[in-house]
This record gives sequence, structure tokens and C-alpha cells, in this order.
Amino acid sequence: MSEKLLEINGLRIEYTSENGPAKAVNGITFSLDRGQSMGLVGETGAGKTTTALSILRLLPKYTAKVTGGEIRFDGRDVMSVSEAEMRAIRGGRAAMIFQDPMTSLDPVITVRDQIAEVLLLHREDLDRANVDAEVGRILEMVGIPAARMHEYPHQFSGGMKQRVMIAIAIACNPELLIADEPTTALDVTIQAQVLSMMRRLKRELHSALLLITHDLGVVASICDIIGIMYAGEIVEFGTLEDIFDPEKKHHPYTVGLFGSIPNLTMDAERLSPIPGLMPDPTDLPAGCSFGPRCPHYDPARCGSTDPVGSAGTPTEIPIARKGQHQIRCVLYADADL
Ligand SMILES: Nc1ncnc2c1ncn2[C@@H]1O[C@H](COP(=O)(O)OP(=O)(O)OP(=O)(O)O)[C@@H](O)[C@H]1O
Ligand SMILES: [Mg+2]
Repeated sequence: MSEKLLEINGLRIEYTSENGPAKAVNGITFSLDRGQSMGLVGETGAGKTTTALSILRLLPKYTAKVTGGEIRFDGRDVMSVSEAEMRAIRGGRAAMIFQDPMTSLDPVITVRDQIAEVLLLHREDLDRANVDAEVGRILEMVGIPAARMHEYPHQFSGGMKQRVMIAIAIACNPELLIADEPTTALDVTIQAQVLSMMRRLKRELHSALLLITHDLGVVASICDIIGIMYAGEIVEFGTLEDIFDPEKKHHPYTVGLFGSIPNLTMDAERLSPIPGLMPDPTDLPAGCSFGPRCPHYDPARCGSTDPVGSAGTPTEIPIARKGQHQIRCVLYADADL
């Protein structure tokens, strides 16, 4: 058993679209140790869900294509394992909590049957007579009374549906849990409850966690390492301490993300969302993808903000590194971090 549970190396993913290939993921590299938790943070369209789906080989078959790089789960090349082996990994050794509970909970099947299905598929040790007891135990782990197992998803509140999704995902005690914006659709109080439950589950299950969110506040309470994603690239990576230390150097996009977090001491008027929008993935700039929105943009070093098609060859942006901390920006050399 290797210490590294998940390794992603130079991963590239494109979707076919009417305007040509949409480059959703553009050469990302990171790895996750057993039991470690990583936050993948970025605005809408950054490529977070695309990355997550690729790990479980759940990308849409005909419109998405992995065009480069590799994904290894416990040393196995995810792209080349058989469909049968992939089914055994999915929902068993690795499970995903999706962005929208209603798209992945089956409305006409009771919660008990949805959890039991996962158990019977992946837990050969489990005696059929003990399934109800096990379903009840798992529901109570996520804070739902076992007595409610015979109800249907629509009988639960939004926060509880999210908990049911988490229950299904943890039913097999996965080595890797991928949670895609698990709290975005919930109101703030319920969000806090679900997060504190996830923190507890992380301690109890020893699973590795890949937590996807656009909210830096969410990762601060759970994650050991953080990747900041922009236009399909990881522009900054580091430990929680690296990313949250205002004394350390940061990518201008990370600085922008922190500027857009509301907090209690700051009134809404002082909030400064990053101006502009993420580039269109069918029309990425030839230079740094963040260039068009960056306060430090310098055409001589950062490359053209025009699309690759009209501006010629792409400009390679260097990555400065110190320990685990990495920033992909021309502002820094290794010595600066
Ligand atoms: N099925 C698809 N076909 C074509 N393009 C797609 C498809 N799914 C996603 N994309 C495009 O790929 C890019 C990345 O999308 P993705 O869903 O991975 O972003 P995300 O970071 O998860 O965003 P969000 O925070 O809104 O969930 C976007 O530009 C999106 O429009
Ligand atoms: Mg998403």
C-alpha cells in the first residue's frame, strides 16, 4: 500500500462544444496522502467538478475527453482499469458527494434501500439480516434518526437530504471521499452543522477527503492542504498555513478570493469581488489566464491577453516553489516565497 492514495499528474480535460474544444482542465498536478484532506477552491467554471468526475471516471462519455496526464488511485492508472474494477472502486473505495442532492438521490426509492444497495454491492462481509441495523448506524452517524430510514428523499429537508447523500457516500467506509460543494445549497446555519459533521466523520473514518468549494472559509475548518484553481489550472497550492498566512506571498487570484470573503468585522461595502470574469475555456488567453483580471498584469512578462488563436504561441508561466507551497505567477521566483 503506497502512502499516496491519489496522484494527479499534468491532467488535461476538454469538452467538445459548438465553439470548438472547451479546455476545462489545463495541466493540473497534485497528490493526496491517505487520510489527508485537500480543498480545491475556485470560482464557478474553474474546472473543479470536471476534475472530481475524472477521478471516478464519471465524465460524460461522448463530450468530455482526457487529453493529457494521468490519474492514479492507490497506484492504479484510473484511465486504464477495466469497467468492472472501476465499479468496485466507485462507491466502495472512493465515493463522491455531488453538488446537487436531488440529482443523485432517487426520489422513488426509500433512503434505507438506497443505502442498502451500496452496502450489498460493496460489503461482502455484511450479513443480509444485519443490513437494517447497519443502515440505521450509518444514518445516525450523519445525525438522522434510524427510525426515518423507510422514508423517501422528498420527506427530508435540504440539509437532511445532504446528510443522506453523505450517508450513502460513507456507507462503505471509502478511502477517498470527494465532496463537491456539499454545503452550497444550504442556509448558513445548516451549512455549519453539515461542516462540523464532516469534520467529525473525517476523524472517525480516517478517509482522505477532496473537498470542492468556492468558499475559503469552508476549507479553513477542514483541510490540511489547499489548491486554488483558476481557468483549469492550480495557480497556488500549499498547506492551510501557507494559504492563510497573510505574511506569506500569494497568487494575485488568491488575494482576490480573500478580498471577497465577507466577515463580521467588515461591512458589505468594503467587500471587493474580483472584477471581470473567468476566460471562456474555448478561448483561453495566450498568456497567464488570470492576466485580464490581474492588478499586476504586465504584457512583457505575463504574455498576451488575446486568445491563443490570434496571439500565437502560449506563454509558459513559471511556478515558484518553497516546500509544498507553490505559486504559478511571474511575480515570484523560488527565493521570494
Ligand atoms: N458537459 C459539458 N459540456 C461542455 N462544457 C462543459 C461541460 N461541463 C462543464 N463544462 C465547462 O467546463 C468548465 C469547467 O466546468 P466545471 O463544472 O468543472 O466548473 P466548476 O469549477 O465545478 O464550477 P462550479 O463552481 O460552477 O460548479 C466550464 O467552462 C464549463 O462550462
Ligand atoms: Mg462544480
